[in-house]
Amino acid sequence: MVDLSRRPRRNRKSEAVRALTQETFLHKEDLIYPLFLIEGENKQEPIASMPGIARLSLDLLLEEIAHCMELGIRAFALFPALPESKKDRFATESYNEEGIYLKAIREIKRQLPAACLISDVAMDPYSSDGHDGLVENGKILNDETLEILAKMAVAQARAGVDIVAPSDMMDGRVGYLRQALDDEGFTEVSIMAYTAKYASAFYGPFRDALDSAPKFGDKKTYQMNPANAKEALIEADLDFAEGADFLMVKPALPYLDVIKLLAEHYPLPIAAYNVSGEYAMIKAAANQGWLDGEKVMLESLLSIKRAGAKIILTYFAKEVAALL
Ligand code: PBG
Repeated sequence: MVDLSRRPRRNRKSEAVRALTQETFLHKEDLIYPLFLIEGENKQEPIASMPGIARLSLDLLLEEIAHCMELGIRAFALFPALPESKKDRFATESYNEEGIYLKAIREIKRQLPAACLISDVAMDPYSSDGHDGLVENGKILNDETLEILAKMAVAQARAGVDIVAPSDMMDGRVGYLRQALDDEGFTEVSIMAYTAKYASAFYGPFRDALDSAPKFGDKKTYQMNPANAKEALIEADLDFAEGADFLMVKPALPYLDVIKLLAEHYPLPIAAYNVSGEYAMIKAAANQGWLDGEKVMLESLLSIKRAGAKIILTYFAKEVAALL
């Protein structure tokens, strides 16, 4: 008989013991489901690179949200897909009260007040340049962009959104938005900051969904260099000091170390965005029969929790909720 006093396998000997010793769990309560809005009625446009995900007109979107709420998902991140004709340099459509996005926010909150609605604050869905900030002579202007983002965030707050989520990565935007919201009396509207958002190639399918790819260059002068982790602490320090209510890391799986870093250093809830490319990879491999899609999905999401994320934004939300 081998003399082993410490046998870690004892804690894996049965389903029940494995459940007792399980450290991390997925909860429906932690999921945010991203949704894509388009103009029109009874319109559903599947996104080829994101099997199972479609852009929806408001009527179908309302049904989708109601259905998700029955499954136990209560938080939704809404993104608008606009025709090129509605885009301009200044993202003017982003604060048009009669535009599809603000109309949709008002209608969702009217019909489904218990849904927690998270709006996107960035210029790219509305920008003819396809950038998150204002472009002049090929440069993205920081401070001039803040003013546009503030108009957008205040308009979204007025429409009834619960949380605004600046995804633009301009410097100082969290504090600037906080001030603008407070000045207008929206002290209750939360800010979920895209704190460590990397210049990632994993956003490809999302840009297909929104038709929002940059018309020139890339986003490397504002989104973070994938090689850097310490720099995420600078971004987090700023977002924390400027009043963010949530800190986000994006993408999720290739940046688990960054999730862990922020979770260890900040008392705020950490969100991780399991982005479109992460979703597409699993769906593509599963469709080929190369991976067990469901198992890989659950393992991936659990790993994001284990790294320290409290909240996960994921296109898998509906699918997972049905399993949990
Ligand atoms: C842009 C934005 C992007 C995503 C969310 N907001 C893409 C980008 O920065 O180009 C990506 C989300 C995803 O890939 O799922 N403001």
